[in-house]
Amino acid sequence: MIDSIRVRVPAKINLRLSVGPLRADGYHDLVTVFHAVGLYDELSITRVGAGLGVSVQVAGEDASAVPVDDDNIAVRAVREAAHRARQPADLAISITKSIPVAGGMAGGSADAAAALVGCAALWPGTLGADDLAGIAAGLGSDVPFLLDGGTMIGSGRGEILTPVLAQGGFDWVIAVSDSGLSTPGVYAELDRLRAGADVPPPSGDDALLRALRAGDAKALARRLHNDLQPAALSLRPALARVLDAGIELGALGGIVSGSGPTCAFLARDRDHALDIAVGLTTTGLVRLVRHAAGPVDGARVIAE
Ligand code: C5P
Repeated sequence: MIDSIRVRVPAKINLRLSVGPLRADGYHDLVTVFHAVGLYDELSITRVGAGLGVSVQVAGEDASAVPVDDDNIAVRAVREAAHRARQPADLAISITKSIPVAGGMAGGSADAAAALVGCAALWPGTLGADDLAGIAAGLGSDVPFLLDGGTMIGSGRGEILTPVLAQGGFDWVIAVSDSGLSTPGVYAELDRLRAGADVPPPSGDDALLRALRAGDAKALARRLHNDLQPAALSLRPALARVLDAGIELGALGGIVSGSGPTCAFLARDRDHALDIAVGLTTTGLVRLVRHAAGPVDGARVIAE
């Protein structure tokens, strides 16, 4: 029996995020193109004595901003998985964060996906892919995607997934801001900006899919689109300077990632990305700059 498992899980960016009108359940219908990028959290799950319950500790960037009680989404994931697998929820979770907290890169959802994959490995034969996908969708709109990773179209509220054919890889520069933005807050700001307008249903973009199929970074850069970007900029006007700086430094394109405030810039290749990263760092406009390649796999066991 395995006593401890380690899982690595990437961040996501949205190459396209088309947001429909507010639904009665408080969510918005989406058509999005998720893209997993190589910026990783690591999570270990260890069995503890009977009756000790679930505990979590968090280390790494912004660790103090992550709850260590039942509000932690990885704790909720483990409890759901234990319930479904009919296994005791006596586990210690340890998370090392590199994905920015409240950054629009699905850091919390990533930890939940990692927790689910870890539980499936700790309790072999108890949780199939459908179980994991079902629990994931109940935990959050981005969690199902992070089980698989790669590049996928998400619809519904993001949980209905269709793989996208993408040729080769892309090099991104990820610019992390000093403090996060609340996802519900950014959606609410979008609703406020759209008040009185007739909001069309969310839509896909064939030209974006063609660019991915061709592995054409220049064409992809032209098709990057995020309906949440005006709302994130309205709440955090300084992000406009970050986006401008990335383009002035030669990025092919730049976009606010999901609900922000992290920005993602597309580069021609790795060296180009590293040049842009150095340039962005010296502007002093952002807290942290990272190079990340995409697409990458979703949550995967890296050690037992
Ligand atoms: O699903 P998740 O818990 O990640 O969503 C966080 C919040 O983001 C929701 O409570 C909602 O305010 C907003 N959201 C939305 N429409 C979506 C996904 C998220 O309005 N499709």
